[in-house]
Amino acid sequence: MKGLVLYRSHYGNTKQVAEAIAEAAGAAGHAATVQDVRRQLPDLAGVDFVLVGCPTRMARAGVSAKAALRRLRARSFAGRPVAIFDTYGPLPKTPEELADAKKWIDPGAAGILHERAQRLGLAVYPSTLRCEVTGMKGPLAEHEIEKAATFAKDFLAAISR
Ligand SMILES: Cc1cc2nc3c(=O)[nH]c(=O)nc-3n(C[C@H](O)[C@H](O)[C@H](O)COP(=O)(O)O)c2cc1C
Repeated sequence: MKGLVLYRSHYGNTKQVAEAIAEAAGAAGHAATVQDVRRQLPDLAGVDFVLVGCPTRMARAGVSAKAALRRLRARSFAGRPVAIFDTYGPLPKTPEELADAKKWIDPGAAGILHERAQRLGLAVYPSTLRCEVTGMKGPLAEHEIEKAATFAKDFLAAISR
């Protein structure tokens, strides 16, 4: 299958996740192109799946990622699988601080994009991929790249069935 990984990234962390997804798709025998979500969508005729991701900032999802979902629907992508990912963090250290910060973290960009995709009638994969950063501008926490690869592998296995 052929796919497209659309990302928005300010400091490169979400881009790294997008690239890990594409690499995992390649390793699973598929081909995925990674593209900045602000660029024009390519011809979707030969595209079997799309992943859309962006960082969580101010508890929100980026406008360009939200616009990409609308464009996918407008370009008749509604029947083909779409998956959502984001980056978020850093997570506070104590349970008390975590409880206070929850509204900035959950549902995060991934939850917002997932809900939008559903509302638009896209065939959105039930799970989302959320990768944590350890500082406001990154880097990604340990094992998040492996998590992204596993997510991609599971998503592709599910849609190949
Ligand atoms: C202005 C700003 C606001 C942010 N707000 C949030 C937030 O509300 N929730 C959160 O989990 N992370 C927040 N972050 C951390 C981002 O999620 C982090 O910068 C992002 O994951 C990095 O990805 P990128 O390198 O692809 O831009 C914020 C970061 C910045 C710079």
